[in-house]
Amino acid sequence: MPENHAPTQPTAQPTAPPRARREPMFPDGPAPDPAGSHHERRIRSFQPRRSRVTTGQAEALRRLWPKWGLDIDGLHRLDLGELFGDPKLPVVLEIGFGMGEATARMAAADPSTGILACDVHTPGQGNLLALAEREGLENIRVANGDAIILLREMLAPDSLSGLRVYFPDPWPKKRHHKRRLIQPEFLDLAATRLAPGALLHCATDWEPYAEQMLEVLTAHPRFENTQPDGGFAPRPEFRPLTRFEGQGLDKGHIVRDLLFRRV
Ligand SMILES: C[S@@+](CC[C@H](N)C(=O)[O-])C[C@H]1O[C@@H](n2cnc3c(N)ncnc32)[C@H](O)[C@@H]1O
Repeated sequence: MPENHAPTQPTAQPTAPPRARREPMFPDGPAPDPAGSHHERRIRSFQPRRSRVTTGQAEALRRLWPKWGLDIDGLHRLDLGELFGDPKLPVVLEIGFGMGEATARMAAADPSTGILACDVHTPGQGNLLALAEREGLENIRVANGDAIILLREMLAPDSLSGLRVYFPDPWPKKRHHKRRLIQPEFLDLAATRLAPGALLHCATDWEPYAEQMLEVLTAHPRFENTQPDGGFAPRPEFRPLTRFEGQGLDKGHIVRDLLFRRV
């Protein structure tokens, strides 16, 4: 090192006060791993992501989570009537709402249905809460965590009047197919939580996954296809285009809807 050059000191940067290691990022917001199950040896259908939360999303999480948010801790049974403040409201579960734009539109179009919207994606949770407030939607609750734990531990048998799974992660690589959500075991569980006659509505733009969905749903004894020809359904008007769907359409993908009834 030349003589006159003292080792450079790091310049002082204005920084946020450091958080203790296990201190939650949103003290009154969604917990990082509400069921404490990240170390459970179970194949998951999602990839934990560290996506950036915008200031607006963080603000919505801070203000609205205590009112409309729910951590999936797997520790208690939910009373859906109490959660939505109306014991008679039919409740539909949506798994994987992403950024929630389609969820908010569906809630606005049908205020007489409660939507329990579940995802692990923190920015999306903030976004959906902000949308719900802006549009004055009282019929959305945002659940944070793994939908499997929600279904298995927290929802009562026959408690759902519908289930929506729009554009679940396609997991295209063969070695990842086991991560796909729509599998016989998932349908066994979902069938117990759906009331008889309830609709299971799936959509995907990934053709091999669409074929797999059709195959496992058709083979399942507790679901029947609403389509007389036993095939895919036309996109029902009540399902708006989703963000992920738009990306698929831009790539020229074909979108398939599947509408099955719990028998
Ligand atoms: C491909 S994105 C689709 C999002 C949205 N439906 C759309 O069409 O734009 C799938 C979403 O499902 C969520 N997801 C996957 N498995 C889940 C699970 N077991 N529980 C909760 N969310 C899950 C992911 O975090 C992701 O946000």
